[in-house]
Amino acid sequence: MLFTLALVLASSKVALSAPALDARQTVTIAVDASKTYQTIDGFGISQFYGRAGNIKSLASAAQKKTLDLLFDPATGAGFSILRNGIGSGPSSGFSIEPNSPGSPSAAPKYQWDGADNDQVWLTQQAKTRGLKYIYADAWSAPGFMKTNGKDSNGGYLCGVTGTSCGNWTQAYANYLTQYVKDYKSVGIDITHLGFLNEPDYTTAYSSMLSSGQQAADFIKVLAPTVKAAGLDVKLTCCDATGYTAQSKMLPGLATVDSLFDVVTTHGYSSDPTTPFASSKHAWMTETADLSGKWDISYYTTGAAGEGQTWAEKIHTALVDASFSAYLYWEGAEDAGTSPTNSALINLHGGVVAPSKRFWVYAQWSRFVRPGAVRIGASGANTALKVSAFKNTDGSVAVQVLNTGASAATVSISGVKGTASAYITSESYELDSLSGSSVPAHSMVTFLYK
Ligand SMILES: *[C@@H]1O[C@H](CO)[C@@H](O)[C@H](O)[C@H]1NC(C)=O
Repeated sequence: MLFTLALVLASSKVALSAPALDARQTVTIAVDASKTYQTIDGFGISQFYGRAGNIKSLASAAQKKTLDLLFDPATGAGFSILRNGIGSGPSSGFSIEPNSPGSPSAAPKYQWDGADNDQVWLTQQAKTRGLKYIYADAWSAPGFMKTNGKDSNGGYLCGVTGTSCGNWTQAYANYLTQYVKDYKSVGIDITHLGFLNEPDYTTAYSSMLSSGQQAADFIKVLAPTVKAAGLDVKLTCCDATGYTAQSKMLPGLATVDSLFDVVTTHGYSSDPTTPFASSKHAWMTETADLSGKWDISYYTTGAAGEGQTWAEKIHTALVDASFSAYLYWEGAEDAGTSPTNSALINLHGGVVAPSKRFWVYAQWSRFVRPGAVRIGASGANTALKVSAFKNTDGSVAVQVLNTGASAATVSISGVKGTASAYITSESYELDSLSGSSVPAHSMVTFLYK
């Protein structure tokens, strides 16, 4: 059955004087629920490196507004994944094991301050608004466990292939397990655990290098350790700087395929455009425009920080690369007087200022909920990008990005129920839309309930 969304010209007077509808711009979108693809885990952000504190230190109305924008599915984005950083020592400012116990087998002296750089507070605030997944990720092991003796500037975990500085793999696995237990002690179940961040990149902040083989060496120790502790946590690997770098690590991980759960990558050095050679869920766990200056627009030139750019990147990752999650770097931050686009919401001066990137993320996140299955949707053309998702409550979200310079009228088939439509564009921020015209340079969701 064909459901044509009210394609009614506003009045007969207008209809008489309006030019004939250009058939090339009327697009039939055929949704096909019998074709099923990946299951979605959701969308999210991080507030690591002190940005949880940026929210906590806001005045109460601004603080509530920011938390609602990020985590409330009715009034904001309803992000379902929060990526917390596991402090590694001096270069991240904190760690649960600041000092070496002297040797790998010596008893560690763990410290837990209950705040974890305000990430405990933030996680609790997000959970009250419905947060589903808590991804705790370590940028590096503590320096005393590594070849270079520091938690910054790369270096390798002692004990993996190619190192000769003792074997700290069990100590690092114990440390990560302790961190998960510390969160449990304050009522928070970490759902996903990672032990690397950009292992193909050496930098002056917290970083640790690893090949796929070296990551496999460690997963062989971490997986049984987490299991023996009775923790129900999924393991990820490896948060490489980009899709190509992460792809190159996968062959080295073949021997531990049954021991980890999610393939994670960042989107800096390259974006995902095809699926990984893996049957696991794929998550884009960090990406941002770090070089452009703060940009709130949806579309002016197609610049790296604009909303349309991110609407398209998410579409490509979900549709062409079958990803299950897509996270931006920071959600909200006060980055001073000349911020880049490293966050979705600017908090400078205590003013909560969402960019159009934020509203684009919100439009994906609010209507494509965790557990949704991507289903068939035809009708794309050079200007229109089309996808459809069946949520666990039975609702179907049809996502239409019009990247072209003229409006397109859509006619959607294969869906039941009544559609509500929502739009983000240069003029709108996830507002209700009536009719079936998808304006030039806009993202429109048709939600069938
Ligand atoms: C390092 O320790 C782990 C955990 O005990 C062990 O499985 C692994 O074989 C050791 N590695 C080497 C190179 O001895």
